[in-house]
Amino acid sequence: MKRTHTCGELRKSDVGQTVTLAGWVQNRRDHGGLMFIDLRDRYGLTQIVFDTARPEVLKLGHEVRAEWVLQVAGKVLARPGDMVNPKMATGEIELEVDAFNVLSRSIALPFEVDDYAKVGEEARMTYRYLDLRRPRMQKNLAARHRVVHAIRETMARHGFLEIETPILAKSTPEGARDYLVPSRVHWGRYYALPQSPQLFKQLCMIGGLDRYYQIARCFRDEDLRADRQPEFTQLDLEMSFADQEDVFLVCEDAMKAAFGAGIGVDLAMPFPRMSYADAMAKYGCDKPDLRFGLELSEVTDLAAAAEFKVFRAAVAQGGIVKGIVIPGGESFSRRDLDVELLDIAKPYGAKGLAWVKIGSDGAYAGAPVKFFGKEQLDAIAARLRAKPGDAMAFSADQPRVVNAGLAAVRNFLGQAKLGLAKPDDFKFVWITEFPAFEWSLEDKRWQSAHHPFTSIHPDDVDIMLSAGLDADSGLDRVRSAAYDLVLNGTETASGSVRIHDPQLQRKVFQALGVAPDQIKERFGFFTDALRYGTPPHAGIAPGIDRIVAMMLGYDNIREVIAFPKNAKAVDLMSDAPGNVDAKQLGELGVKNVEKPE
Ligand code: AMO
Ligand code: AMP
Repeated sequence: MKRTHTCGELRKSDVGQTVTLAGWVQNRRDHGGLMFIDLRDRYGLTQIVFDTARPEVLKLGHEVRAEWVLQVAGKVLARPGDMVNPKMATGEIELEVDAFNVLSRSIALPFEVDDYAKVGEEARMTYRYLDLRRPRMQKNLAARHRVVHAIRETMARHGFLEIETPILAKSTPEGARDYLVPSRVHWGRYYALPQSPQLFKQLCMIGGLDRYYQIARCFRDEDLRADRQPEFTQLDLEMSFADQEDVFLVCEDAMKAAFGAGIGVDLAMPFPRMSYADAMAKYGCDKPDLRFGLELSEVTDLAAAAEFKVFRAAVAQGGIVKGIVIPGGESFSRRDLDVELLDIAKPYGAKGLAWVKIGSDGAYAGAPVKFFGKEQLDAIAARLRAKPGDAMAFSADQPRVVNAGLAAVRNFLGQAKLGLAKPDDFKFVWITEFPAFEWSLEDKRWQSAHHPFTSIHPDDVDIMLSAGLDADSGLDRVRSAAYDLVLNGTETASGSVRIHDPQLQRKVFQALGVAPDQIKERFGFFTDALRYGTPPHAGIAPGIDRIVAMMLGYDNIREVIAFPKNAKAVDLMSDAPGNVDAKQLGELGVKNVEKPE
């Protein structure tokens, strides 16, 4: 007796048919004589009726409990008019049981399997297989499937080959720690799980494969956040004889297909572009949320001209002053401005947030006002495009502090406080011309802003070749050929045109302070390969988890991953990472030592 239909399938047109369904018992409503069960599978719910006319079936039915697995045969009936449920796809019919089998029983449940039950995070993760039964999780994973499927079709259409690269590999640096796997055969040696297939995909280009892609699992031992997991999935792609434009075109097409298949949204193309420098100037960060305006304006020149000591002191120390307009901010309370907004900026080092309100009559109010002339304030208001009824907030400090603080304030205002950002609005933007290098205060050396295989902006190669290696050598002025794809304030993809010249690759390693013997040891296979005729190539890697989570309106990528880890990188269901017995460790030549304090 196999199922003839799914639990989401039967309609009024099926009335009179004899069918068999199989699924889980969602709930049981027992009215003594008459009893109903909602039977659930991936496709939906069907109401099953147990009738007093069959006392032996009804008697067995009374024993049934939630989440038992049943196979039910019977006849499709039209529901009586007042019992029709227009909210249910199968709401016009019900199934009258002739006979049923209990395929499997369930012990008592830790939580109810439905979308409305309030279930704690820990319980959800521990019993993930039950959590997965909930309609919401089923919808999320089905959407993810459609997205990946549409991406695969798009890539094939563009002539890409899907190629698998090793999981047991050598370290590819992406800025996180590696997960290491000890080798039993080669004592003392370790594989690294790939942080990304970066070097392999470039080797595919050297190998003449022309266009590569992979739905690639990446592994990174880093501090986790809502949008980060220790293992995650990228649409990883690379193309030969290609530049930024070619990569943008393919990636935009993949995103369009993904959003169409995932949620039926037709994205407008092409995506707008913005240089890193413009993004920093207008939004204070390299991942602007473009669902709302609230652009930042620099007012250093105007601010420094007045006697306000907070601004003067910052400028005297080489700092800047920037401001943001708060539409309707005249009605903000002191608490809104001096506590709420300031608290948003503080974690980024802001020591204060000066504000000026503009009354409906155009009069200014706020701490800095008495130090400025009316024309000066008018000039500042004009630059911020602030009107009567608005407020302006200012930060004065080193550029890093000002930009990061005001970027956070801007997001808070646009997203939470003023509600200008709509959740179903998807605003992509390409950020280009990133700096190639960042000075690491911690390590006192230059680091790649993207990764060391990223090419240098053609106009900046000369600066790069002549620059020294110390903090003020000017390496921070060198732009790379890297680009990010940002969606609603989140980085969703990152890529670059790559270095294909072994000489330039050596220079970049040199700038990063990687010694020649280290280059040989860590990347020798790759730098060797570069010398055998490398085509110019470029690529990118959108994060699949982030994109699917965002299109479905989730902050946390866990909601679109079947078996995620928690914020401490633990799988609460299987309790991974687990202990390993001494014998197994012995074979690997590995010994646990006491954890240092
Ligand atoms: P990058 O390290 O910027 O670039 O990663 C690309 C994209 O992958 C996603 N992502 C993550 N998603 C979930 N959890 C994480 N821990 C995580 N880390 C990154 C993000 C990010 O934009 N090899 C280069 C790509 C290239 O140059 O082609 C790379 O991996 O969406
Ligand atoms: P104070 O003179 O320290 O009382 O500050 C006067 C106003 O300037 C207050 O509204 C502070 O929040 C603000 N303020 C203090 N430091 C800064 C700063 N670095 N940038 C902008 N505003 C500041």
